Amino acid sequence: MPSSDNRRLSVTRVDVSKGHEAEFHAIATQFAAILLKKEYGRSVVVADEAEPSRFYSVHHWNGVASAELCHGDPEVQALTARLYQIARVTYVVNGVRRPEMMKLLEDRRARVEADRRTGFDRRRKNIGRTEGDRRKSDRRLGPRRLRDRPGEVDLIAAARRAREHADAAFSHFKVGAALETADGEVITGCNIENATYGLTICAERVAMFKAISEGHRAFLRIAIVADTEAPTPPCGACRQILWEFGGDLEILLANLQAPKGSYRLKDLLPLPFDARLL
Ligand code: THU
Repeated sequence: MPSSDNRRLSVTRVDVSKGHEAEFHAIATQFAAILLKKEYGRSVVVADEAEPSRFYSVHHWNGVASAELCHGDPEVQALTARLYQIARVTYVVNGVRRPEMMKLLEDRRARVEADRRTGFDRRRKNIGRTEGDRRKSDRRLGPRRLRDRPGEVDLIAAARRAREHADAAFSHFKVGAALETADGEVITGCNIENATYGLTICAERVAMFKAISEGHRAFLRIAIVADTEAPTPPCGACRQILWEFGGDLEILLANLQAPKGSYRLKDLLPLPFDARLL
């Protein structure tokens, strides 16, 4: 047993994205179990009574060395990466970390936060979208899960249905899109035109912006449907938006009768501009 004067406490404030509270609790439970099992210390989660999606995670470390070992533990890092995808984490009390350690952690947090914002993690390091990670959360989602049973949701059919809502009074070219999130939800979009022409928005961007506005941040595929023999690939503006928010999505093209091919976004948008270059 470590002596009590070697024990340290740290507290982080965790602001969980709406709808991800259950996932947060699952992560916190796993984290607490690892701390106990590996004798790093123990951790408890305290809910903020005033803010429904705010929690405080209190860590009682078995000593400075345990805390540092814990932060370097790949199992813990994988959990932390998942946490950063669904929450903003702020260090409130830090009883263990030396300044340089603190700086490292802050840098990593800033990087992960930037990655989360742009969806960039999946393009560079595959964090947060390993099959294992996703399968676990998909299982928890029950009927919504997709990854174990690919093809169960007919994304093309969803895009065909969405196309019926297109408002294309000027071009009469109706497009539908259906975007599949990593959690297995399908968010649809259609093109919407208006009298200025230039403010037209494509089906793909409608789908992506709807998804982002509903809190989704990880995506797998998008289906795009038009009523033409030759398939309709996403325009340049949409490729950029899909890349920045969705990474290397699978792009399914189809018309009303049949699928017309599948592409990877990185092949449709080679040499992309994104947050790495800022
Ligand atoms: N359009 C889309 O919605 N998606 C595409 O991939 C290509 C073009 C829309 C924009 C406009 O309303 C109409 O199709 C004609 O360009």
